Amino acid sequence: MQDTAGTVAVLATGGTIAGTAERATDNIGYSAAQLGVRALVEAVPALAEVPLVTEQVAQLDSKDMDFAVWAALAARVAHHVARPEVAGIVITHGTDTLEETAYVLQRLLAPAKPVVMCAAMRPATALLRDGPQNLLDAVTLARQPGARGVMAVLSGTVHSAFDVRKVHSYRVDAFGSGDAGVLARIEEGQVRRLRDWPAGEPLGLDRIASGDWPWVEIVTSHAGARADGVRALVAAGVKGLVVAGTGNGSLHHALENALVEAQQAGVAVWRSTRCLDGPVQMKSGDRLPSAGTLTPVQARIELMLQLMRA
Ligand code: SIN
Repeated sequence: MQDTAGTVAVLATGGTIAGTAERATDNIGYSAAQLGVRALVEAVPALAEVPLVTEQVAQLDSKDMDFAVWAALAARVAHHVARPEVAGIVITHGTDTLEETAYVLQRLLAPAKPVVMCAAMRPATALLRDGPQNLLDAVTLARQPGARGVMAVLSGTVHSAFDVRKVHSYRVDAFGSGDAGVLARIEEGQVRRLRDWPAGEPLGLDRIASGDWPWVEIVTSHAGARADGVRALVAAGVKGLVVAGTGNGSLHHALENALVEAQQAGVAVWRSTRCLDGPVQMKSGDRLPSAGTLTPVQARIELMLQLMRA
């Protein structure tokens, strides 16, 4: 019988890593979320040596990620993290919203074991598929002694849930960690750590127990920006707005006036930047609070979680 110490729980949610195309040369005309978790694991012969438990938590293209799947996934991660024989968790996921799921799981659970998200930019049928190596690397990291927190592994590179972002629409090496830099590299089955593991206080699953996620939208400042969109959202009952401003969170005057009106009407408004890297630093005279170093999508999640407490 296989020793269960060091077990890795592999939780599958779909994505391109589980995608198939009719032709091996087709890298974009495929259907995501076709293969089940067993097929993903069986495509990596080296995993036969590792004690694994597998679970199909969802099967979707991650562009369609929703709050119900997040809640189900967070509950299953918490369940497996609590099992003494489980060393770590691997989550297979689509690349498109991976950074959002990573952030929400880290904020809710701040797990004391490694929770490793992995994905692929090429479907499982592609000539140069990246999924199997990414899955093997993710399992390696999930068994790394001392590792903790939610991370993502693609192309031999480990990113923290706090920093990971998709930076390329096509390249296999499609993820970055912005100013913070990558967390670790995985080379020939060895983890070379460069920074501290992600840590922090968990908000806890009670935060999302109601299942009632407040409506928060992202709007963008740009040339010719108008007030009408924000006013329509406020009239429709939006609870929070994250604005992706230019540069250091600066805003077109028409949009800023509408956002200040929204704030005065009781809508929570946070200012982030549409720049790929860097914080929004507050300065005197600013009328709207900064989202700090959070990207617009992270700021939206953080604001929803904050409003759920309010
Ligand atoms: C998805 O995000 O589910 C599809 C795209 C991908 O995984 O690369």
